[in-house]
Amino acid sequence: MSFGEREANAAADVVRRRIGNSVPVAAIVLGSGLGGLADDIDIVARIAYGEVPGFPAATVAGHAGALIAGTLGGRFVLALAGRFHMYEGHDVRLAAFPARVCHALGAKTLIVSNAAGGVNRSWQPSDLMLIRDHINLMFRNPLIGALEPGDVRFPDMSSPYDPAMADLARAVAKDERIPLREGVYAGLLGPAYETAAEVRMLELFGADAVGMSTVPEVIVARALGMRVLGLSCITNLACGLSSTPITHAEVLDATSHAAAAFQRLVRGVVARL
Ligand code: HPA
Repeated sequence: MSFGEREANAAADVVRRRIGNSVPVAAIVLGSGLGGLADDIDIVARIAYGEVPGFPAATVAGHAGALIAGTLGGRFVLALAGRFHMYEGHDVRLAAFPARVCHALGAKTLIVSNAAGGVNRSWQPSDLMLIRDHINLMFRNPLIGALEPGDVRFPDMSSPYDPAMADLARAVAKDERIPLREGVYAGLLGPAYETAAEVRMLELFGADAVGMSTVPEVIVARALGMRVLGLSCITNLACGLSSTPITHAEVLDATSHAAAAFQRLVRGVVARL
């Protein structure tokens, strides 16, 4: 399966049978531990990933694996609870496929979120970060292959994260009194966390946060001309910046502390789209 436009249309047809012809104002990819946003949605349909053609049914712990459609902040949205990570053995084109499906359903805005390690030394677990830019250290690109109908062959990546969407997130954060960091997200393959030497390298590269997702979806979204807003929840200090080893439990614990602010921020953004 090539996880291209044809497959995305087939998946969108199945989803449309459940949601009708409503067009989402945005699609929201929920990162590890940030699935609580789904509880804020007045649900029209909850479609298990196993029912969506092309979507594998199972995802890692902390992910429910469902496409949720409904209203958030008074607007119709799609939420993707659960990702397909490359560290699970998935192809980069599958990692990015949900963005294609949401585009096929009419979403012109993609909000991506993730749990990330803090590389910036002045940050703390549970901080929220507006992603200003990313560094693709996955050494994979979901656009490799035949040009898909609707894709730009060589997408410009000078501002993959839409400046107007970033301004909107800043404005909502200010109104809601949510402290919002800003920085550069480095995407690595994982699943091993980084070594201390790798984190020092990332710091030299100009990264503020490090994680194992997001980059593939954003690249596909840009090739399709979608506007992207990216948010990271800093869950831990990256390796070498703290004396304790990193655990997945710690990551989920930090997201649970940040979840309420994250949810308010996203709901506020969606309400003003
Ligand atoms: N490194 C990579 N990915 C992560 C981390 C980290 O420290 N924390 C949460 N996701």
